[in-house]
Amino acid sequence: RQNERESLLIVLNFAKTFFQETMQTTDEGKSIGLSYFRERGFTNPTIDAFELGYTLDQWDALLKEGERRGYSRDLLEKAGLILLKEGSTGGDKKVFDRFRGRVMFPIHNVSGRVIAFGARILKTDKNQPKYLNSPETTVYHKSQVLYGIFQAKQAIRQEDVCYLTEGYTDVISLHQAGIKNVVASSGTSLTTEQIRLISRFTPNVTILYDGDAAGIKAALRGLDMVLEEGLNLKLLLLPDGEDPDSYVHKVGADAFKTYIREQSQDFIDFKASRWLSEAGDNPLKRAEGISDVCVSITKIPDSLKRQTLSQRVAQVFHVSEQSVISEINRLLRKQQ
Ligand code: GTP
Ligand code: MN
Ligand code: MN
Ligand code: MN
Ligand code: MN
Repeated sequence: RQNERESLLIVLNFAKTFFQETMQTTDEGKSIGLSYFRERGFTNPTIDAFELGYTLDQWDALLKEGERRGYSRDLLEKAGLILLKEGSTGGDKKVFDRFRGRVMFPIHNVSGRVIAFGARILKTDKNQPKYLNSPETTVYHKSQVLYGIFQAKQAIRQEDVCYLTEGYTDVISLHQAGIKNVVASSGTSLTTEQIRLISRFTPNVTILYDGDAAGIKAALRGLDMVLEEGLNLKLLLLPDGEDPDSYVHKVGADAFKTYIREQSQDFIDFKASRWLSEAGDNPLKRAEGISDVCVSITKIPDSLKRQTLSQRVAQVFHVSEQSVISEINRLLRKQQ
């Protein structure tokens, strides 16, 4: 088992290096892969720090080089790098590279070893997914991984807060802008394991999701999960149509930092402001909003924190603290 893990990590590291060399030294790699990253504004140090690469638009570039280096098809397949498909007539199996003609984002574990890849298509194509990811393997369990954690962990400790984004390029562009305490859940909805991974480095999380409907939905879902793990939470949605990558390019590093500082809200304000703007002076909607915020408060394991936050809810909604506390207690009884 231990041997298989190590073999997989070795072949994944080989693939990473091969994708880097392909991008830096081949004509196709330079003119397509490298120029793609250049157009997105990524500098050489950034490309190096995230070990970005490119896969040729061929069926078996990695397979050939892998076999030449003595890696078996079985190992390449177990690492998620090649695909074996039965031929349609039931004859020979077809063998080919999983990732072809895409820019490559290696996914590192906490100690910096490559465990998987995300692969982005260059031009949008309705018939193909924008990002293709490695499958689950012995070394890659998607739900346990945060993209960028290796590059971010020191800064997360130093700043004592972790910014949580949606995508690979959000992490990379913020890192390049000097905001290094940032990771991404990479499209999967946030998991408890990912939150526990953050909590090894800081008890403070700020969710920085895209300002679209999907981002709002994901933020509301992630909110309760972060609270359940006992972490302190702030939230900030990017302006509609922007994500951290596009926005930091648009306004620059300093304005982006100011934006985070001035616009991030604690979870009570985040939820309450949405409810209050929707409810106006409709008392039933307000009551619904109070109850909804109270549901989130019941997720917090620390009863002392729950109590002090009840005071905040009462202030924000202009109701008595006692009514908030009794709502929380009602919800807690219901959950038992
Ligand atoms: P860019 O378009 O390159 O800036 O990517 P993005 O990160 O802004 O993409 P988006 O906001 O659409 O999605 C956020 C994250 O979800 C991405 O970084 C990916 O990790 C993941 N994702 C997006 N599209 C796909 C897809 O088609 N398949 C898979 N498996 N993941 C995806
Ligand atoms: Mn960019
Ligand atoms: Mn989005
Ligand atoms: Mn995005
Ligand atoms: Mn984007």
